[in-house]
Amino acid sequence: MRVMIVGSGDIAKAIAAAISDHEIFHSDKLRGQILEESIRQVGASIMSTRPDVIINTVGSFAFDDEVIDQRYFFDINFHFAFRLSDKDNWKYIFHITSDSAHIPRTNSALYCSSKAAVSMMIKCLARKWGKDKVCVSEIAPGAVDGTRMCGHIISRVGDFSERTFIGRLVSPEEVGRLVSFLLNQGPSVNGQQYILNGGWK
Ligand SMILES: NC(=O)c1ccc[n+]([C@@H]2O[C@H](COP(=O)([O-])OP(=O)(O)OC[C@H]3O[C@@H](n4cnc5c(N)ncnc54)[C@H](OP(=O)(O)O)[C@@H]3O)[C@@H](O)[C@H]2O)c1
Repeated sequence: MRVMIVGSGDIAKAIAAAISDHEIFHSDKLRGQILEESIRQVGASIMSTRPDVIINTVGSFAFDDEVIDQRYFFDINFHFAFRLSDKDNWKYIFHITSDSAHIPRTNSALYCSSKAAVSMMIKCLARKWGKDKVCVSEIAPGAVDGTRMCGHIISRVGDFSERTFIGRLVSPEEVGRLVSFLLNQGPSVNGQQYILNGGWK
């Protein structure tokens, strides 16, 4: 399959390593430009490469007291995903959301609600498009060990790995393996939430 990975951060790299048996296209560097330009750039790349699968990893984490521009923050986490979800171009789309779309967290109302919005968007689009054989689902990791984002959270709240049932955080490789598995499942995977956090107390 031809797979477009949108974004080039830590999780994008882990996914690319796990699905190297597929034909992978990466989006160009997006951060640092206005949202409309990022969407235009990714759209042009999709039109030229015509992938079967889009994996959207774009997203930003900040605690509520760190967000400077709430609208921009929501744009990155929600509107980018919404604008990217154009059913005419591919068969499958996976958005990397977060377990924070499903678990309320202190000082994280903006992050949790922006990811929850993507989660509900996915359910609505999956319902609308299923018969057209366009499938959209969500992969919702907990904090992923060793990533920049996870490091930032730990720097504010300390080590929270004991909050998971498995006593550790999930690894980037585990996220990659789940994506690899789902790519091979076909259209029965539609409108689903795959929460990958080892269980959260
Ligand atoms: N890391 C974790 O612990 C964790 C846990 C749960 C969920 N997630 C979610 O997983 C996804 C990927 O996370 P990650 O750890 O790989 O994060 P990352 O390394 O910070 O990468 C984030 C991605 O989002 C893009 N991005 C961020 N701000 C942007 C902006 N203002 N405009 C355009 N693009 C922007 C970056 O673009 P560039 O490629 O141009 O830099 C990058 O590709 C995110 O949606 C995140 O919310 C992460």
